[in-house]
Amino acid sequence: MELLYEGKAKKVYRSEVPGQLIMEFKDDATAFNGQKRGQIADKGSVNARMTARIFQWLMEKDIPTHLIRPLDDRHLLVRQLTMIGLEVVVRNEVAGSLSQRTGLPEGTAIAQPVLELYYKNDALGDPLINDDHVRLLHLASPQELEAIRRQAMHINEWLRPFFQERGILLVDFKLEFGWFEGQLMLGDEISPDTCRLWDIQTRERLDKDRFRRDLGGVEEAYQEILKRVMT
Ligand code: TMP
Ligand code: ASP
Repeated sequence: MELLYEGKAKKVYRSEVPGQLIMEFKDDATAFNGQKRGQIADKGSVNARMTARIFQWLMEKDIPTHLIRPLDDRHLLVRQLTMIGLEVVVRNEVAGSLSQRTGLPEGTAIAQPVLELYYKNDALGDPLINDDHVRLLHLASPQELEAIRRQAMHINEWLRPFFQERGILLVDFKLEFGWFEGQLMLGDEISPDTCRLWDIQTRERLDKDRFRRDLGGVEEAYQEILKRVMT
């Protein structure tokens, strides 16, 4: 298979069919724009299986995603999207950089979800940008950005109860979108790498923050999330 792209957590290969790609999920983990590096045993498998499960579930709710089908425990067959150079973060409770930026303590409830846009650019460290910057950089037109915002909020409305039923608080998460034949589609992944997931009862962190912050029990947290998501 021809390797098209290798990122920090995934490799992307061309498939035999034009317009279709194979995503391979790695065990490699990085944080702080690649400054911290490590491995999380079986992370690739957890993230691929969780992404497949959640994307299939979202598609049942009429939310288009790039997923065609899982190939095995680490590989997903996906549509080749024209990616939008944005990371769209939706937040239901204060954590991470929102806490640092605002001084609000982690775990503060947010009445109305907060949506943030980050410019996907490793050299710049994925900076927070606003709608005018999106227009300036030609990342999306105002109408397209409105559709992206609406779809991200819509996904949050589906995912919050999905996780809640499994005893998980969806604190925040990051989405990436692209275009396929004029249609906006959810791309990339939804996994403990890209979400903050806290146990509802204990508020224990069951996500990549265990790696970022050296909390221990990283592999166990990923397995626990997978187990609950697969039910
Ligand atoms: P943040 O609080 O560090 O800005 O992260 C917000 C959410 O976005 C969190 O669920 C983790 C996710 N995220 C990514 O998926 N990739 C990234 O590079 C970063 C910084 C955050
Ligand atoms: N994966 C990102 C990086 O290495 C950041 C993160 O998830 O914290 O830069």
